[in-house]
Amino acid sequence: MKKIDRETVQRILDTADIVDVVSDFVSLKRRGANYIGLCPFHNERTPSFSVSKSKGICKCFSCGKGGSPVNFIMEIEQLSYQEALRYLAKKYNIEIVEHEMSDQERQEESQRESMLAVNAFALTHFEKNLTETPDGREIGLAYFRKRGINDAMISRFHLGYSLEQGNTLHQAAVAKGYNEKYLIDTGLCVRTDRGTIYDRFKGRVIYPVHSISGKVVAFGGRTLKSDKTVAKYVNSPESVIYSKSRELYGLYQAKQSIARKNKCILVEGYMDVISMHQSGVENVVASSGTSLTEGQIRLIHRFTDNVTVIYDSDAAGIKASLRGIDMILAEGINVKVLSLPDGDDPDSFAQSHSAQEVEDYLQANETDFIRFKTRILLKDTNEDPIAKSRVISDILRTIAVIPDAVTRTVYVAECSRAFAIDEQVLMLQLSKLIAERAENIERQTRQSEAHKSIADITTENQTEPQADTSNAPDQSAMPTEKSDPIKSLDGRVKFLEPFERELLRFVLKYGMTDLCEAEDEEGNPIQLKLVDYVRYELQKEDIVFTVPVYRRAFEKVVVLADTTWPADKENCRARLLSEKKHDEQQMLEEIRTANMSVSEIKAKEIALTTRLEGNFNNGMADFAEHYVEQRLCSSSDDEIRLLATDLVSDRYRLSKIHSKYSKIETERDRLIELVPRAVYELMYGILQYNIKETELLLADTTDQTTMRELLHKYVEMKTTQQEFAKFLGERIVAPRHKNKTSQTL
Ligand code: UTP
Ligand code: MN
Repeated sequence: MKKIDRETVQRILDTADIVDVVSDFVSLKRRGANYIGLCPFHNERTPSFSVSKSKGICKCFSCGKGGSPVNFIMEIEQLSYQEALRYLAKKYNIEIVEHEMSDQERQEESQRESMLAVNAFALTHFEKNLTETPDGREIGLAYFRKRGINDAMISRFHLGYSLEQGNTLHQAAVAKGYNEKYLIDTGLCVRTDRGTIYDRFKGRVIYPVHSISGKVVAFGGRTLKSDKTVAKYVNSPESVIYSKSRELYGLYQAKQSIARKNKCILVEGYMDVISMHQSGVENVVASSGTSLTEGQIRLIHRFTDNVTVIYDSDAAGIKASLRGIDMILAEGINVKVLSLPDGDDPDSFAQSHSAQEVEDYLQANETDFIRFKTRILLKDTNEDPIAKSRVISDILRTIAVIPDAVTRTVYVAECSRAFAIDEQVLMLQLSKLIAERAENIERQTRQSEAHKSIADITTENQTEPQADTSNAPDQSAMPTEKSDPIKSLDGRVKFLEPFERELLRFVLKYGMTDLCEAEDEEGNPIQLKLVDYVRYELQKEDIVFTVPVYRRAFEKVVVLADTTWPADKENCRARLLSEKKHDEQQMLEEIRTANMSVSEIKAKEIALTTRLEGNFNNGMADFAEHYVEQRLCSSSDDEIRLLATDLVSDRYRLSKIHSKYSKIETERDRLIELVPRAVYELMYGILQYNIKETELLLADTTDQTTMRELLHKYVEMKTTQQEFAKFLGERIVAPRHKNKTSQTL
């Protein structure tokens, strides 16, 4: 039996948001903590279909249908459970890993259940210790009392105590018939090298960690000693049932309040969550001292679009966390931040203020994240223009991750005010950053497609023994993420990369193809190869590719054109000619010996010659077309090989053209139009970048002379840019306007 792998299922269930899923079929309106709409399962005029974001379910109060996202999809699309999971996986772009259920998996399945059972036993054991044993009361409970935690919170968070003596949990569990193996697997007990077993959390107060569905998947144990050599917290190890990056402390207890208030407050520690709850602020979760992971953000996003991050006033901590916040913004979540008065953390603040005061403080002091970041970073620049421009671009980069355009515009307006820079200038840069981001994302997809197509080539070569496999790319030599030549670029290079890439693509694909007629030094007409055209155009403007691997690839093609190409081309011509001659003789012979009239024979002869001439020309064109690609795709330079394979593969490109226009026009037919255009677009890109750079410099300059010089340069470039834009806007681009290009740049 094929089965979607457990982890995938979990990811699907964790990701699927009931409101989101139902919204694809039903128009929902918010009603308090819930959403309502017209039931899709029966005809109705007044809405009785209710969706609870926090519970993750939907239900029709009239016909009774509904359930979890999976149930809903099963019902509405009439799918099986597995099919519904696949539907959701597709919706959320989750890659499905599937396999046969093996014996081992069946074992793991029962292992999970056994581990959860042991944890549930331990939970009760620790809770009982706390209130029913003298040590528990005198040490554990006394500690919580001292920290101001009341009984309601102790039972709500199932706080407990692990006795100091060696292995009381172990003994109790084994006596109850629990398998020792699972005590070890969950990390509740530890086996020493000498084979003795002790309780991991002994002598500590216990904070259980609940999964979103309320199962206890881990424990945190805090020491009560002030001894600095003892770890303050000991936590359950990662295991089949516990993945730290997929859980958030307190989410189980907070989720309803998060949905109701449509906001999640993020703090650092166990105690912060509990004390806030106690003061009546219940929509709080903790990242447990580490920075948030994407999985955790998705969990939050199931309940709300709004996150408020609380910092203690420690500045280093704030800066470190600034980075992580981009990830929250990129998920489409609105982020606010709140700093507490000096010396306070959420725990101490909640403990020393009334519930009302806490609420009021939150209300009054929440700051929008971008504003917060601007303020923090701006403080450090000391009016240093370079530092300032770095801060601006840092903040724009953050704004660029926000998916919603309106939100971005609002922030740019603010930023413009904060830095006293023209909004247009910021908008311009922002749109580049966004394009860059989109490019990066697209490239990563393409890159992985290229990896895949390389794998395809390798397998093709294996199945086709006649193909020359000696130079075929081999998977072990495939560049890893780390050595990806493009990911580590910045600034100018990054900006120009897409322009260069497009131009290089033509060179790699059609480098030796004749592009147009030109004149040699003596004025004789010659055929100009595509690579030569590009080479001369770039030389004329002093342009070199800025992406190192692009430059290397281009140079390789130039070298091919100057060295092996002429002889190889001649060999090919000779071969095709002799083939043509041979065919010609044979077929002419046939025609002439056939029983036909002279005029018929004449007509046949002409048709034959035309056909053979056509074959010959096509053969030459094919040879030219594949010359570069064949050599570069089997280059021993890993980076060049990967790049070439990626660039010449038409797969994604064709499908795109297909979907847009019903008729496919071949690129090869339009080279004379497309290649010059790609050259000019690169030039235009360079110009754009220089303009942007000057704009930023202008914004920072106070010196009058520099300002005047910059402005002069700026105006000049702007004029050129306008001419260029007009020029590129025209549909027909003449290939060789020597004077025009030199004028415009
Ligand atoms: P804190 O040191 O701020 O702890 O670490 P706390 O929760 O405020 O605890 P109190 O107030 O001193 O009792 C924040 C979080 O980082 C994780 C825990 O999840 C803790 O709640 N942490 C901290 C560890 O996992 N291990 C450690 O040694 C320290
Ligand atoms: Mn604390």
